[in-house]
Amino acid sequence: MEGLADFYVRQALTDIGGFDWCVTEFVRVSGTLLPPKTFYRWCPELRTGARTRAGTSVHVQLLGSDPQCMAENAARAAELGAPAIDLNFGCPAKTVNRHRGGAVLLDEPEVVHQVVAAVRNAVPKHLPVSAKMRLGNCHGDFAVENARAIEAAGASWLTVHGRTKVQGYKPPAYWDQIALLRHAIAIPVIANGEIWTADDAHRCAQESQCDMLMLGRGAVSDPFLAQRIQQGSTADWADVRASLLKFIEDCLPTSTDLQLAGRLKQWMNYLRRDWPQAQTLYDVIKRCKSSADIAMHIESSTDIAA
Ligand SMILES: Cc1cc2nc3c(=O)[nH]c(=O)nc-3n(C[C@H](O)[C@H](O)[C@H](O)COP(=O)(O)O)c2cc1C
Repeated sequence: MEGLADFYVRQALTDIGGFDWCVTEFVRVSGTLLPPKTFYRWCPELRTGARTRAGTSVHVQLLGSDPQCMAENAARAAELGAPAIDLNFGCPAKTVNRHRGGAVLLDEPEVVHQVVAAVRNAVPKHLPVSAKMRLGNCHGDFAVENARAIEAAGASWLTVHGRTKVQGYKPPAYWDQIALLRHAIAIPVIANGEIWTADDAHRCAQESQCDMLMLGRGAVSDPFLAQRIQQGSTADWADVRASLLKFIEDCLPTSTDLQLAGRLKQWMNYLRRDWPQAQTLYDVIKRCKSSADIAMHIESSTDIAA
């Protein structure tokens, strides 16, 4: 997730575990072959075998509409060690959509097909190419057509966020609509959208009829969510607090106090959905002047505040 699930957050979440793989924020492709340093910036894990510290595989996600240029950049990502290439057809951002990237392409299933096919042809056969789509841009009328276009172009699997672009991030996510796509194509479909609890995950699996799920914001608001879904983890605030302290330790060498406070405020903003302790910390961090101060407040936050 752009601006959210960066290297440090991926590292923190996969340290906790429960994920089969994770995906980078999107790398925007617009007209040029990006230099290796750009890929390393978005996916520092390429320097460590495309795995996070815990060993979880990291797929590289590309966003763009020019088949040839997407293909060249996918080939470069593969050369640099990406274990799989994911293609973004779901981003709702105006700046991205204005340049024919992300969810607007769902109005043009033939372009979606061309992009996936060009990337598939450019990347070694043993590396999976996957796609991520919403149900549509302004409506869901082309959902099946897009899913079929993606399958016909040779994608290995398809992740579906169960909303159109105009539906934004407003609940609900239409898991039942994902089931229609699941039955329209033969490649695996991964269901995504509004999974905040283990119970949501089970209902989503049932309604979408998908046995694979993708977690987005839910994994940030409850870092133990993947584990809870897979193994019924009973992690509590003390466990979250330990992850936060490790996160600070990891970020410190490359962040100023201001940057670290910004990162923590952003994470706390999601955490406070599930953890009342995070609300208290969110308010405190706004006034903190140094990272030592922040760490001290996190360390002393207790379950009693709940
Ligand atoms: C801040 C933010 C950034 C996102 N960036 C990306 C992205 O780079 N690539 C992508 O495929 N989806 C991105 N998404 C969409 C999520 O992957 C996911 O599809 C969406 O949030 C719905 O799932 P959720 O309800 O589990 O969060 C982003 C979502 C948010 C909130």
